[in-house]
Amino acid sequence: MFADLVLSGMRPTGSLHLGHYHGVLKNWVQMQHEFECLFFVADWHALTTHYDTPQVIEQSVWDMVIDWLAAGVDPAHATLFIQSKVPEHAELHLLLSMITPLGWLERVPTYKDQQEKLSEKDLSTYGFLGYPLLQSADILIYRATQVPVGEDQVPHIEFTREIARRFNHIYGREVGFEEKAAAAVKKLGSKKAKLYNELRDRYQEQGDDEALESAKSLLDEQQSLSHGDRERLFGYLEGGGKMILSEPQAMLTAASKMPGLDGQKMSKSYNNTITLREDEASLTKKIRTMPTDPARIRRTDAGNPDKCPVWQLHQVYSNEQTKQWAMQGCKSAGIGCIECKQPVIDAVLEEQRPMRERAQVYLDDPTLVRNIIADGCEKARKRAAETMRDVREAMGLSYT
Ligand code: TRP
Ligand code: SF4
Repeated sequence: MFADLVLSGMRPTGSLHLGHYHGVLKNWVQMQHEFECLFFVADWHALTTHYDTPQVIEQSVWDMVIDWLAAGVDPAHATLFIQSKVPEHAELHLLLSMITPLGWLERVPTYKDQQEKLSEKDLSTYGFLGYPLLQSADILIYRATQVPVGEDQVPHIEFTREIARRFNHIYGREVGFEEKAAAAVKKLGSKKAKLYNELRDRYQEQGDDEALESAKSLLDEQQSLSHGDRERLFGYLEGGGKMILSEPQAMLTAASKMPGLDGQKMSKSYNNTITLREDEASLTKKIRTMPTDPARIRRTDAGNPDKCPVWQLHQVYSNEQTKQWAMQGCKSAGIGCIECKQPVIDAVLEEQRPMRERAQVYLDDPTLVRNIIADGCEKARKRAAETMRDVREAMGLSYT
């Protein structure tokens, strides 16, 4: 009934690195050609943990957008915007908070996990507890169908689905729903009304899924129904009320296995990253000084690639032939470590060259970036406003 809409956000809390590129951005770039996509900077989410260092956020916002563009996210295919520039997210967050049981928030696993992990910060705040609900507002306000996220975010999507269901349950049953639905059935004309009722009975009494599908396609064909009546008739079919907010699906992105400079997963907190647009000299130096198999002390010592973080980078960046060369050269002490690292350095530089070129255009003319975001915010606000109209009406807030 509704076309797919993909939505995802990223918190601006520092520069993006190759882990983000291989884990997230390559996936966004691919999806923008397959779906309608909205990608946004989750600056309010960043504030929930970085409320005492807002400068970090401010700096990262624009750098992050440039990183996205550098990676190939294309404003002609995807809508890019900043969360705080679409204040409707905050309004929906507030309204949803009215029906959100505290226990649901306290039980979201990231709540306690993150508090423990970031123990140097006081995260016993109202804002941090509400993090998943703000995320729900981000998603529900666009009626997004797919949300690409990593494994750790799946509970947030599940939470969002529960909030949508609860909202529809409480507010979808408008006063006089049955009567209004019956009136809408009549508007189909007597023949189609009869068919609709038969199909609805068959589904509700016998669980006949085919009948449900036929009824849905019958509704899809009705051009003249108002939006409200259409929603009512869809809701009436399945026995529920009107569906005001729709439940999204998590679209699991494979966990990034991008190894960092020390062989652990690449992560800012391990201080083992190569940034997305790392300066060439610094990139070269970082790889040249990477630790290798600790048992390979002298050039004449044979090494074991399985004990070497450089070998892990070869897995990401080298073809079979180069890997063979490195493997054999290492085990036979035929090559030195600096030699072994060179193809990796070359490959990362090569990967980054187009990114650096694309970024340069935006660095030279920052108004281009400002305009892309201004455009995206405007588009996002229009969509958000439509949902908010329905939400306010459902909650009895559309006074005139
Ligand atoms: N919580 C997400 C993260 O840390 C960021 C985020 C905020 C998000 N709002 C969202 C992701 C909405 C997807 C959809 O990665
Ligand atoms: Fe690592 Fe290559 Fe040195 Fe072997 S030769 S230890 S794989 S850097």
